[in-house]
Amino acid sequence: MLILSIESSCDETAVAVTRDGRTVLADEIHTQVDIHALYGGVVPEIASRNHIAAIGRLADAALAKAGVTKRDIDAIAVTYAPGLIGALLVGVNFAKGAALALGVPLIPVHHLRGHVAANYIAYTELEPPFVCLIASGGNTLIADVRGYTDIRVVGSTRDDAAGECFDKAARVLGLTYPGGKLMDELAKSGDERAFALPRPSVDGAPYDMSFSGLKTAVVNLAHNAEQSGKTLDKAGLAASFQSAVSDILVPRVMSATRELGYGKLALAGGVAANSRVRADFTRAAEEAGVTLYIPPLRLCGDNAAMIGCQAYYEHRAGGRAGMELNAYASLEMQRRYI
Ligand code: KG4
Repeated sequence: MLILSIESSCDETAVAVTRDGRTVLADEIHTQVDIHALYGGVVPEIASRNHIAAIGRLADAALAKAGVTKRDIDAIAVTYAPGLIGALLVGVNFAKGAALALGVPLIPVHHLRGHVAANYIAYTELEPPFVCLIASGGNTLIADVRGYTDIRVVGSTRDDAAGECFDKAARVLGLTYPGGKLMDELAKSGDERAFALPRPSVDGAPYDMSFSGLKTAVVNLAHNAEQSGKTLDKAGLAASFQSAVSDILVPRVMSATRELGYGKLALAGGVAANSRVRADFTRAAEEAGVTLYIPPLRLCGDNAAMIGCQAYYEHRAGGRAGMELNAYASLEMQRRYI
């Protein structure tokens, strides 16, 4: 089954062509990151306008790269939630038009389910059940992937996403948006014991997380240094921050994996690109005798191949939409679109 998939939930416009879920024939991405860096974060209206400008060209490029024509496409898949509503609507309307014009099914895909599916592309042998940590710019949660389309959330952040926390911390340290990658690089020359930062837990919810206190602690340290004219050990703060994020994520995910007893753990989302997070999970999984799946960096961030892959399984389970399909800024990951 040949699927043309579209992703436009934030500041990446992406179109892919996938065959039977896991074979990627083309995976085109246009990132707007340089435009939004000027403002220190994503400006929703600017993101929508740039999606409109890029999406048609990207679809043509994806078809050409895959060596197929529009008439070879069996279905159109699209991210319909969660994300920036205007940005999502660009992809959803483009997908509706394409499905209608080609007379093929339209498959709605939840963005976070797509992040899980990035692992199926990277590891062709991987099958549910497994535990998956999704840590991106807008979401942080631990999912029990019981089946390809049967997914339960066992824990999530109560406030900020881990990636958002990275980006805000990076901003007060003077790094450009999105700062996660730059924090990772800066942390390499810092001492992680330089600053004592909070690692909060949520009473009665062992798998839930909180990042806003950690973010505020970094912001306060940076502002205090600025106001008192002291030189801030930025590398030390980046290293201390990164180890705090990892200390919040790793034990929760490992104990959820132990409790569910699957012996398989996957990571997804932009924060899974973090070197400290990767190293800590690698060590913890080895100690626990758990097989760890970490997608390569290019599949950790937003892309349309992961949407096409998940769409294959959603379609197999009856997931499809008509022209009534709408976009949703927020939507629970466990809800299926049927
Ligand atoms: O999954 P993603 O590309 O987009 C969303 O769906 O949100 O994640 C983007 C997030 C940003 O917050 C970015 O700063 C963070 O992932 N990120 C990182 C690293 N690379 C990207 N955070 C920490 N360390 C990294 N190496």
